[in-house]
Amino acid sequence: MVKHEKFSNKLSAVFVAAGCSVGLGNIWRFPYVVGENGGGAFLFVYLIAIIMIGLPVMISEFVVGRSTGVGAVPAYRKLGGNKWKLLGYNSIVTSTLIMGFYYVVAGWTAEYFAISVTGELANYSTAAEYKDLFANFVTNPWKPILYTWIFIAANHVVIQRGVTKGLEKVSNILMPIFFVILIIMAINSLMMPNSLEGVKFFLQPDLSKITPTVILQAVGQAFFSLSIGLGALVIYGAYMPKSNNLRTTAMQVSFLDTIVAIIAGLIIFPATSSVGVDPTSGPALVFETLPMIFNQLPFSMLWASIFFLLLMIAAITSTMSLHEVGTVFLMEKFHIERSRATYFVSLSLGLLASIASLSMGVWNEYKLFGMNLFSLLDYFTANITLPLGGMLTSIFVGWKMQKSLFIRELSNNGLEPFNLYRSVYFMLKYVCPTIIFIIFLNGLGLF
Ligand code: TRP
Repeated sequence: MVKHEKFSNKLSAVFVAAGCSVGLGNIWRFPYVVGENGGGAFLFVYLIAIIMIGLPVMISEFVVGRSTGVGAVPAYRKLGGNKWKLLGYNSIVTSTLIMGFYYVVAGWTAEYFAISVTGELANYSTAAEYKDLFANFVTNPWKPILYTWIFIAANHVVIQRGVTKGLEKVSNILMPIFFVILIIMAINSLMMPNSLEGVKFFLQPDLSKITPTVILQAVGQAFFSLSIGLGALVIYGAYMPKSNNLRTTAMQVSFLDTIVAIIAGLIIFPATSSVGVDPTSGPALVFETLPMIFNQLPFSMLWASIFFLLLMIAAITSTMSLHEVGTVFLMEKFHIERSRATYFVSLSLGLLASIASLSMGVWNEYKLFGMNLFSLLDYFTANITLPLGGMLTSIFVGWKMQKSLFIRELSNNGLEPFNLYRSVYFMLKYVCPTIIFIIFLNGLGLF
């Protein structure tokens, strides 16, 4: 059995896990989903989803990881037998598929950072021009692939260095920089004229706007944003020393993830309201609408550069985690060393991401269920395998795993008693599986 390294201290554990959770999901996906789903009402449901569903599932993944000390596949096998190993495989498949499109978007952030620094982004002005720029870029046959590979190469170097020298070191440097940039950007947005409109749209819940779709989208976004349901947090649980308090770590990580999403909203909505555009442009919001807004500010390219730097940092700390999941799987399964496993993961993911990138342009005509590969990967993971993983994780911990082991892990062998465990257990046993099941059916398009 492969013996894994452990995080060297509690703060690093929080930074690495928060780096995994905080990603493009917070800055790119969250604002556009809020924009499309009624603003404050969505935020309200989202916060409830994080506390009621996200947090218990995150705690579960940490418990499964730390109690076994291994990655998702052997961890579920150890605790639940061969059948439950499939849940581990679901994680591996999901993270591989997520990487297929996530790396492509990560590549876009690198491209936009580059054209902000060179000033090329300032050469356009109207909404239509920014739309064209984005469309031309993502459909270009080689540019996005080039940037994707640069991103993969950077991840490759980090993952090869291992847990303490790679993941931990990079997260400890990047996460603080990330927070500083995030706050500077939010202050800048809040100082724009008419910013209050956007703040109101985002923070003032109009409860009449809560619809079943809003609830489903909010829970789905909570899963994606916290990185739960696909084994990444199982392996990070395995890296946590026995002295770490798993509840506290899970609370800190979800708190950071949520606060980043909220601050990202405070960057984007005041900016859109200040120029009077609707924040409903979907996935193109940060690539089309924001550059147009930046271009109207003094020092426009400076703002654009630091914003895309922010996105790049968000992306890299998450892709690192996804890369790590695949690498650990190969190390454990085939008993190979980290360095070889990393090569294998980098090359295969590079290939998958390149195909996904081409599916946006020259291969756009090849469709399955009416979607190109890129959209299919996004749709299939967000609506099917992620909820499935989350649902099975909560069922596993609520019904299959020994209750005494769960309590022992959560209370650090009784040293740090936990009074709320009954509520967490109740959520995992009944509430989480039921709600996620409904979402799952909806994802399958059944209603
Ligand atoms: N949470 C990440 C984000 O918000 C995306 C993500 C989902 C992820 N599952 C993951 C990242 C697993 C790393 C590992 O962008």
